[in-house]
Amino acid sequence: MILETERLTLAPLTVDDAPLIYPFLSDAEVMSNLDQEPIEDPDEVAGRVAAQVDQMGAGDAAYWCIRHTTSGAFLGYCEFIDIDKRHDRAEIRFVVDRKGWGQGFGAEAVSALLAYGASSGLKSLVASTHVGDNRAEHLLQKLGFKAEGYLKGAVHRDGERRDRRLYALEL
Ligand SMILES: CC(C)(COP(=O)(O)OP(=O)(O)OC[C@H]1O[C@@H](n2cnc3c(N)ncnc32)[C@H](O)[C@@H]1OP(=O)(O)O)[C@@H](O)C(=O)NCCC(=O)NCCS
Repeated sequence: MILETERLTLAPLTVDDAPLIYPFLSDAEVMSNLDQEPIEDPDEVAGRVAAQVDQMGAGDAAYWCIRHTTSGAFLGYCEFIDIDKRHDRAEIRFVVDRKGWGQGFGAEAVSALLAYGASSGLKSLVASTHVGDNRAEHLLQKLGFKAEGYLKGAVHRDGERRDRRLYALEL
């Protein structure tokens, strides 16, 4: 389903979006606080996007591309993964183009997903950050997520183990 906000249009991911997603997944700074290391190979990104489109078809996840409505600029993507219909819960994740950081696009897109999630029957969301990902942690807290605790050493990135912080929100 297409979601509209004041400035943004969120459209379900298609395989044609892979070339737009590649610059994000290959950007060291954007990826610095994600579990995945930057991906150099555009074909690997295309494969991941195709798998995500399949997951959407199966109802296990929902992925949206974020575009600026008036300019049409591709600003990022956001998603519900691990959708559990038995318990009406999912995990939310989001990425915004580095050039667009600090303009409220992330909060605007995530707010749209929260409203959509609530209207489609989700009751409980989780999010997780690498501890110290201040932008993402600030955004989540601003939208009502509560920090619930740590997963110590849950991430292996760049030769070190990092802690994850879990956030939760009841819709
Ligand atoms: C996290 C991310 C989506 C935020 O996007 P964004 O468009 O900049 O988000 P917003 O502008 O809506 O909100 C960012 C907030 O963090 C604040 N912020 C920015 N830098 C900060 C810092 N160093 N410390 C604390 N807060 C900071 C901003 O002021 C803003 O809060 P405000 O609206 O109260 O002023 C973006 O930085 C990103 O894509 N990061 C890489 C991927 C990632 O970490 N995703 C989260 C994992 S699920």
